[in-house]
Amino acid sequence: MAIHTQELHPGFAAEAGFLDLSRPLDGDAVAAVQAAIDAYPVLVFRDQRLTDGQLRDFAACFGPLEIGRSAARPGRRRLAIPQIGDISNLDVDNNVRALDDRRRLDGLGNRLWHTDASYMPVPVVLGMLHAVVLPPQSPFGNGETEFADMRAAYDALPPATQQAVDPLVAEHDVFWSRAQIGFTEFPAGEREQYPPSQQRLVRRHPVTGRKSLYLSAHASHITGWPVADGRLLLVDLNTHATQSRFVYSHTWRLGDLVIWDNRWTMHRGRPHDETKARDLRRATTLDTGSTLEQAA
Ligand code: OGA
Ligand code: MN
Repeated sequence: MAIHTQELHPGFAAEAGFLDLSRPLDGDAVAAVQAAIDAYPVLVFRDQRLTDGQLRDFAACFGPLEIGRSAARPGRRRLAIPQIGDISNLDVDNNVRALDDRRRLDGLGNRLWHTDASYMPVPVVLGMLHAVVLPPQSPFGNGETEFADMRAAYDALPPATQQAVDPLVAEHDVFWSRAQIGFTEFPAGEREQYPPSQQRLVRRHPVTGRKSLYLSAHASHITGWPVADGRLLLVDLNTHATQSRFVYSHTWRLGDLVIWDNRWTMHRGRPHDETKARDLRRATTLDTGSTLEQAA
């Protein structure tokens, strides 16, 4: 079995033919979806209507699931299943959060180009976002999600630059990405719970062999370099990698399920009308080891 795909961005993003993801998939179907993701690290399924349980069960076909930083916090939560990330602007009672709400401000870190959870020693692989409620248009953006192709960005670097970045390691720190938007009010104990992690700057796809830049807003500096030099290199690489020729912008429709491979992509959310609900649900698969153990 192969999944029918229609390209949305050459060699990077594609829309998959209809497959009802609310039903259990057999091994062949899972392998076909995985093959489509290896070809297109951003894969869009339309017209799904998944419960949180169905989203969890579908995602679990691809690996063990992450429990994110927000779900790991004590206290009441809007969503019952800890493996389902709450990518919304809603509080536990389904009301739109106030502009100064700390969880909202923390979540605004998603508006910076990033790859998910790169601040963890073992980061994540697949992200899957399902659109449940979408906001209306606004002057600053309509809540799109943009994805940048880190394989194409690596390929477009001059060979001498590729050679120079290949062996580098970056330090990734969630408190650095939040500091960039002026957010520092983390719950007590969280700084100790999420120390920085070291990640390779260049990764190699285990199936296709293609190399890719592993960049993220969490990446603070280059390990072993003066902080300022590393930060400036990361600014240059981020500017290069997020040029519009490498970017696919996803305009959400209700029922969309977008899968992306965090190893070869960066993404960011765009602004939207903050007085209206935007409710996306996310499931995320974990990698099996640190990037430092993987071949570059
Ligand atoms: C995420 C994320 C962006 C968005 O869910 O990991 O970064 O558009 N989301 O909500
Ligand atoms: Mn994200």
